[in-house]
Amino acid sequence: MRVDYTDRTKTRTDHEEWAIEAHGIVKTFGDKRAVDGVDLNVRTGTIYGVLGPNGAGKTTTIRMLSTLLRPDGGTARIFGHDVAKEPQTVRQLIGVTGQYASVDESLSATENLIIFSRLLGLGRAEARRKAAELLEEFGLTEAAKRPLKHFSGGMRRRLDLAASLIAQPPLIFLDEPTTGLDPRTRAQMWDTIRRLVKTGTTVLLTTQYLDEADQLADRIAVIDHGRVVAEGTVDELKSAVGASTLQLRVQNQQDTEKAVRIVEQVLSVKSNVSAEAGKIISPMANADRVADLLIELRTAGIDLAEMSVQKPTLDEVFLSITGQGVKGKEQQTSQELHDAVGVRA
Ligand SMILES: Nc1ncnc2c1ncn2[C@@H]1O[C@H](COP(=O)(O)OP(=O)(O)OP(=O)(O)O)[C@@H](O)[C@H]1O
Ligand SMILES: [Mg+2]
Repeated sequence: MRVDYTDRTKTRTDHEEWAIEAHGIVKTFGDKRAVDGVDLNVRTGTIYGVLGPNGAGKTTTIRMLSTLLRPDGGTARIFGHDVAKEPQTVRQLIGVTGQYASVDESLSATENLIIFSRLLGLGRAEARRKAAELLEEFGLTEAAKRPLKHFSGGMRRRLDLAASLIAQPPLIFLDEPTTGLDPRTRAQMWDTIRRLVKTGTTVLLTTQYLDEADQLADRIAVIDHGRVVAEGTVDELKSAVGASTLQLRVQNQQDTEKAVRIVEQVLSVKSNVSAEAGKIISPMANADRVADLLIELRTAGIDLAEMSVQKPTLDEVFLSITGQGVKGKEQQTSQELHDAVGVRA
């Protein structure tokens, strides 16, 4: 049995090209700008990934877009409806699950879903039917009668998502939907998310798993210190950082500095080369330059112990854009990095 997702995208959202349009939204806690002018545009019917390290402002952004927090600046519209001026309308168009969701611990999964359904105005029989349907969809039928306090983390998350689907909202916010799940449950969750989107639902998800964004998201925004530091498709982000990564190790560590200078010169890179204990890592826009580089190093009398060229992973994109994980040199600010890689501020 499958949940009937038809009818989910009501006519009032069908014609809207944009599910989310946020411009310069700001949230300040005390003197901390948790969200510092974020722009997000999410096309209806797509999956949008928001990536960022702990404390970047992901949850705060979702809370503003879903009317749970009032922005201190900027504007945000959900299917054309302003979150600050029409919060009631917006709430009818969205579902939210995530880090801050709560359900009643002493009640069973079935009871929780029935209560959610009844709160949303479904009749008794309809609520019961819907609960059973969703529990089956999320593989929770066997646990249906158990109180939530005996649920594992993965079961809770699935129930949480199930609850958010009762209202069949055209836009769903998922705050780290698979954090802490085992690989099999994660894969199930991904399938569910993909199925939702096939039926016209728009999904905005936050994640710290880069492979998750890689797998699911049509577009990604990388958030750091409350700002969008890069935005685009996975492929765009990867190519912005450099088509490939060059790694080489010199035989004599005292050659390191000289080798770095040659790498910078031949590959025309200035700021992104790192070197530690004779190991040099550099972005490489054009793999054809490897031959030139080897010749230059040979001419300079530098012997190599190791050399490889690798395509970037989304991890490397993320780490280089957020300035974390760059070893052996001063950390770059996000601004320097997106100047260097040409992604947008
Ligand atoms: N209610 C609050 N009061 C004060 N500071 C807050 C509040 N909520 C969030 N913050 C701060 O705002 C910043 C952004 O927090 P937020 O929860 O949005 O980050 P996040 O990207 O979701 O992080 P995580 O990956 O850990 O979930 C953090 O520095 C956090 O400590
Ligand atoms: Mg968060």
